[in-house]
Amino acid sequence: MILRAPEETRALGRRLGALLRVGDFVALLGELGAGKTLLVRGAAEGAGVTDAASSPTFALVNLYRGGHVALQHLDLYRLAGPSELFALGFEDLLAEPAATLCEWADRAGPALPADRLEILLEPTGPEERRATLRAHGARARQLLDALSEAGAPEP
Ligand SMILES: Nc1ncnc2c1ncn2[C@@H]1O[C@H](COP(=O)(O)OP(=O)(O)O)[C@@H](O)[C@H]1O
Ligand SMILES: [Mg+2]
Repeated sequence: MILRAPEETRALGRRLGALLRVGDFVALLGELGAGKTLLVRGAAEGAGVTDAASSPTFALVNLYRGGHVALQHLDLYRLAGPSELFALGFEDLLAEPAATLCEWADRAGPALPADRLEILLEPTGPEERRATLRAHGARARQLLDALSEAGAPEP
């Protein structure tokens, strides 16, 4: 789908956030400035989290509570290598009672959960992004179907 302005990316995040449940994993892909953090901010709003999502560039993990589901916001941009995933406690994070949104998820490689919704954001103009959504697994497929029904812009 085409997101014609930052607000459309945020709105996609809001629709997603409203749907997320404990155990869901959303892999966010795309270059710096693609809109991954903005989408997470929308997801936090959609989940009913009151404090705004800030970029976890230095924290690697931010936890947002207070919504209908707790959200873990991961950013693997600064990940030095797979061994750091263990230091980060990636496996333990996946077992937390939360939904997870992970920027630069491709850096986790084979450690990514098998069931995950992938969202690739690509700039197609200064204010425009192409979002490509791919479901891996049954739960991700449910999310993708629900997102498509929830008034998403035409693909
Ligand atoms: N359609 C769009 N969707 C998302 N962000 C956009 C869009 N158009 C412009 N932008 C801008 O691009 C930047 C995206 O930043 P950010 O969400 O931090 O990206 P990332 O986390 O992928 O590095 C923001 O400054 C935002 O205003
Ligand atoms: Mg970011």
